[in-house]
Amino acid sequence: MKIGVIMGGISSEREVSLQTGQEMISHLDRSRYEVVPIVIDQRADLIAQVQQADIDLAILALHGQYGEDGTVQGTLETLGIPYTGSGVLASSLCMNKQLSKMLLKAVGVHTPTGFCWQGMDDYDPQEVEQLGYPVIVKPNAGGSSIGIQLVHNEKELLPAVQEACNLDQTILIEPYIKGTELTCPIVDGEVLPIIGIRSAHSEWFDYKAKYEADGAEEKVIQLPPITQQRVRETALASYRLLQCKVYARVDMILCQDIPYVLEVNTLPGMTAGSLLPKSAAAAGMTFTQLLDRIIASSLH
Ligand code: DAL
Ligand code: MG
Repeated sequence: MKIGVIMGGISSEREVSLQTGQEMISHLDRSRYEVVPIVIDQRADLIAQVQQADIDLAILALHGQYGEDGTVQGTLETLGIPYTGSGVLASSLCMNKQLSKMLLKAVGVHTPTGFCWQGMDDYDPQEVEQLGYPVIVKPNAGGSSIGIQLVHNEKELLPAVQEACNLDQTILIEPYIKGTELTCPIVDGEVLPIIGIRSAHSEWFDYKAKYEADGAEEKVIQLPPITQQRVRETALASYRLLQCKVYARVDMILCQDIPYVLEVNTLPGMTAGSLLPKSAAAAGMTFTQLLDRIIASSLH
């Protein structure tokens, strides 16, 4: 079977995507698959490159806008090329934190509840004062924590909002939930071991903590059975509600035994240091087996 690994793209997570792609390429079983790297530098290149590669399946190693948000998925549907991971609707929904959180809340899943601003015109420090500091300011459709800031007071608010507005038309202001950061991967309907995260140098799991060596301690977390069950059920309920398929990673904060869902990632990072492969390894799955499972499930 001929497989194209699509990576790069033009989102702010391009570098992470290239690392995800390289890691996937180096672990794909060459006795089973012929592998073609497809590096996207401009959106318009996608169709020609994919058609030229003449592949049976596209592995999506893209992250963020024009990759994780349903646009590439829609293009591949139109071209009739199977691809890994969730479909168009789940991909676009999960990339839109505002809308996915509204749906999660509607079915009783806990998620930090703040408000949205449409650009700097909505800037209103009083609204934030009412919510109460500290708050998290984030672009609505970002990834890898790029543009996200923890804001402790009004003085820090304006630069944080300006930075987030440079990345997205819609920004979210959320209460900062202090607790344990957790992530729960799901592959082919199976909930994998829950990973607990402790950032080494920052107050929360920011870009540096995510990608720098020794930026964070990430290991399978032992929770009391009832809490573990609650986290697993919350992850699975979120995955199903948002109509995810094949695999995803549900990021949460556990506060007083309640898991608050931050977001669902439909194309979670698969770099050498990423969380999903770590969790899979703890479940006894090698990276190669993980990719085999993702491929089989995507073709199902
Ligand atoms: N958005 C990054 C790649 C992640 O969720 O792992
Ligand atoms: Mg994300």
